Amino acid sequence: MNFFDQYDRFYTTSQTSPFPHRLNGRHEAIIASNANLIAGKRVLDIASHDGRWSFAALQAGAAHVTGIEPRQELIDNACDTFARYQVNASRFDFQRGDVFNLLHGQVFDVVLCLGFYYHTTRHAELLDLIERTGAQFVIIDTEVTPRAEEAVVLPSGHSRLVFNNPYAIQMLSEPVDDQQMAWQDALTRNGRTLVGRPSRAAVEFMANHFGYTCRTYDWPNHFATKPEQVSSMADYDQGWRDTFFLEK
Ligand SMILES: C[S@@+](CC[C@H](N)C(=O)[O-])C[C@H]1O[C@@H](n2cnc3c(N)ncnc32)[C@H](O)[C@@H]1O
Repeated sequence: MNFFDQYDRFYTTSQTSPFPHRLNGRHEAIIASNANLIAGKRVLDIASHDGRWSFAALQAGAAHVTGIEPRQELIDNACDTFARYQVNASRFDFQRGDVFNLLHGQVFDVVLCLGFYYHTTRHAELLDLIERTGAQFVIIDTEVTPRAEEAVVLPSGHSRLVFNNPYAIQMLSEPVDDQQMAWQDALTRNGRTLVGRPSRAAVEFMANHFGYTCRTYDWPNHFATKPEQVSSMADYDQGWRDTFFLEK
């Protein structure tokens, strides 16, 4: 049985793509394929939303999970769901607020940064804060610039490239009153804030800078065996979203 079919409350506690095929496809890529790296670990879940990935990490054997999420109603939903599925309260905590304000001086083994890396312009700063937690394994699941628009990545040694620089970040603006978007921050004007969607090369570039190796999940192979998931995962299938595994 697919993971979230056993815990189907998660299909009702969020307005942010709570579709069964999508959540279960993401679970396979993000959690199931890394269960051995999550079991027994202290996990941080950035932008923990309704607790879907905090819960999945605990079910994969994480020793403890900390979720950071600014929207109180989503934390409330997560707590209700954890109680309903009888998760021991000593195994998790949810901190309410902006990750950039809260993620100082905390220690973790594994960091999940899922659905958030394109809701900020502070990509390098976030990776710096993540690396300072001591995390040896980081999963970033994010929208990225489409493959068709990517510049060719040249051999290493070109960190100050001017022309055809592949380490790009697309600027976007988004409403802060939408549950799935950025939380109101210092850049917010007239209900909107600025965010950036990185290229794949930019994610890898920053990961390498902070001492991590970087690889991506094999989504094309995944969809070859699970074509029924494609319709609710067009962003992954069309190559403008990807899942990165950073390791020390
Ligand atoms: C697209 S949802 C991702 C939810 C979930 N992590 C997932 O991948 O399915 C983005 C989440 O980021 C949260 N968020 C927005 N700004 C944030 C910030 N500054 N710090 C932490 N979380 C933030 C939102 O409240 C929302 O729950």
